[in-house]
Amino acid sequence: RVAGPSVLVLFGVTGDLSRKKLLPAIYDLANRGLLPPGFSLVGFARRDWENQDFRQLAYEAVKQNARTPFREEVWNHLSEGMHFVPGEFSDPGAFDALAMAVKELDETRGTGGNYAFYLSIPPKFFDVVVEQLQRSGLAERSESSWRRVVIEKPFGHDLASAQELNNIVHRVFPEESIFRIDHYLGKETVQNILALRFANTMFEPVWNRSHIDHVQITMAEDIGIGGRAGYYDGIGAARDVIQNHLLQLLALAAMEEPTSFSAEAVRAEKAKVLSSVRLPDDLSLTTARGQYAAGWQGGVKVRGYLEEEGIPEASTTETYAAVKLEIASRRWAGVPWYLRTGKRLSRRTTEVAMIFQRAPHLPFSQTETEELGQNALVFRVQPDEGITVRFGSKVPGTSMEVRDVNMDFAYGESFTESSPEAYERLILDVLIGDPPLFPRQEEVELSWQILDPIEEFWAGRGRPEQYKSGGYGPKSADLMMKRDGRAWRRI
Ligand code: BG6
Repeated sequence: RVAGPSVLVLFGVTGDLSRKKLLPAIYDLANRGLLPPGFSLVGFARRDWENQDFRQLAYEAVKQNARTPFREEVWNHLSEGMHFVPGEFSDPGAFDALAMAVKELDETRGTGGNYAFYLSIPPKFFDVVVEQLQRSGLAERSESSWRRVVIEKPFGHDLASAQELNNIVHRVFPEESIFRIDHYLGKETVQNILALRFANTMFEPVWNRSHIDHVQITMAEDIGIGGRAGYYDGIGAARDVIQNHLLQLLALAAMEEPTSFSAEAVRAEKAKVLSSVRLPDDLSLTTARGQYAAGWQGGVKVRGYLEEEGIPEASTTETYAAVKLEIASRRWAGVPWYLRTGKRLSRRTTEVAMIFQRAPHLPFSQTETEELGQNALVFRVQPDEGITVRFGSKVPGTSMEVRDVNMDFAYGESFTESSPEAYERLILDVLIGDPPLFPRQEEVELSWQILDPIEEFWAGRGRPEQYKSGGYGPKSADLMMKRDGRAWRRI
């Protein structure tokens, strides 16, 4: 799978995402030989820059963040195709200049009139940028060329705003040309949930309410909000990652087998699951939220959320959120799905843990099985990518003591191939025009429908519980599990 002739126009090139992820990913794709020889990258931003400044920014980003080794000849070739167009998002002149620049690339580099517009910009600018793309003729494709638009989350902050945003983009681009990025779907380990479930026979028979007691989906981060106060405050953990990443993980782990791996079939199954998600009646007992206070992390003293630069003193934004969900289907009825995420926790780890029911009867004495937990199958999404199966095993010795052991599959040990970074995979798919890994609008809206009542419930409940940085999150989250006779897996 190699991309064909194309231009990627990147709006918001000077942003965090562009420097940390997008530019390095484009270089990595070039380095792996997955971009066409004439591939061109056009940066657009409100800077008084020349091509050279853009190339310098990209060079530094690549040097710092690329996955693959730096190779002078790859970089030189890629940077020859890099151009910069300065301008305001609302300036028609700048978009006319952009239109001329890409046309010239078609002629000089054979990019064939195929353009992908990557909007790595705050959603409040979508309106004006999309309108300018239309006005300048950039959104118009000919019979033999394509136009695609890539949008980054947040796709709104609730259902109504997500619909509004969608209408804006749809005014100019048809659904099949819209690529919504949820970078979790670009992760190897996330795609592997489907491989494990549907390429094998031993898991599917137990993948249901008859065998699974509950599911825990965890996305724990050790970092704080860094320099993202402007984006994060007022958004919070649930909108930032539960609405998208964690609900996508839930959908992949819970969905029925798609009829094929076509975009339509996969998305239809995910949408079915999301539309069957139900909230328990009493959200005060089945949700928890917290805000990180000062503490110690990795031997370093870190400040609390309210002391972070740019955060209002009385902010009620949560940096930790936990919710209990149910899925109203024959497969999952009665199985709780617990989702949690938080910043400034003890360590970074993302996993989906399927926790099995206890054995109905143990023919061993209680003292022999004292430490025995529940069987579990854990997708280790990151950072230690792999799968763990936990089961009881006899402890070597003269008695029949049984204790939990882990059987591990680690990517690094089983494969010599290196995993592409999520953004590499997704950018390549955009250029190829392969949509299965991109959520469609229906999924976005269904996810907001799940989250909106929770957000409404939280609004007006004041400040979230404080939890110490470097710890395990708020006590209310532990209590939430305890009420159900369960406990979170150790982060
Ligand atoms: C982003 C969130 O979508 O995902 C961030 O906006 C979060 O707040 C990030 O830090 C985590 O991504 P990853 O790939 O490091 O798990």
